[in-house]
Amino acid sequence: MEKKLQELKEYISSYPDFPKPGILFRDMFSLLRNPNAFKDLRDVMVEISKRNIPDAQAVVGLESRGFLFGSVLAIELGLPFVPIRKPGKLPGELNKVTYQLEYGTDTFEIQKDAVTPGLKVLLVDDLLATGGSLKAGCQLIEESGGVVAGCLVIMELVDLRGRDKISQPVFSLLEF
Ligand code: PRP
Ligand code: HPA
Repeated sequence: MEKKLQELKEYISSYPDFPKPGILFRDMFSLLRNPNAFKDLRDVMVEISKRNIPDAQAVVGLESRGFLFGSVLAIELGLPFVPIRKPGKLPGELNKVTYQLEYGTDTFEIQKDAVTPGLKVLLVDDLLATGGSLKAGCQLIEESGGVVAGCLVIMELVDLRGRDKISQPVFSLLEF
């Protein structure tokens, strides 16, 4: 597994000064372009989830890149997939959470009937940076009556210490 992860890391392209000067952007789409690497990534996601979060009853993905990995994982684990979306995109009755960005705030929404009381959730996103998005996702699930059994991210920008904000277990595949 460690060797596979090391190989997968090589597929992530890095772009200096994107989207702003001083930021080194890690682009996971360069990995998805390689079908074998994407399959290996899927296998590792499944293995880590089964081993660490075996009691998950649903996979929740954060818009938008969290949908790519969350939906693959949901199919492989045979679990429902539930999206958390940016405002104004989901129909029906919703729960919402507003969270802090570097400048200003943003809102996440989830459909109320997607989270039954006590539902054990595996929360998935592509990247953990400052941790604001994942923390807001956890908050929304728990305010909706669910339980976050664990979080899975593909990439973690460790220097930003985003995981310190999250009280639930966080598993990351590729550290930068
Ligand atoms: C990016 C990324 C994570 C979040 C991580 O989302 O996909 O969701 O930022 O940053 P944080 O840990 O500092 O909160 P973005 O809003 O760019 O959404 P996208 O997936 O729709 O591109
Ligand atoms: N890569 C992808 N998405 C991001 C990054 C990054 O390095 N930083 C913040 N969002």
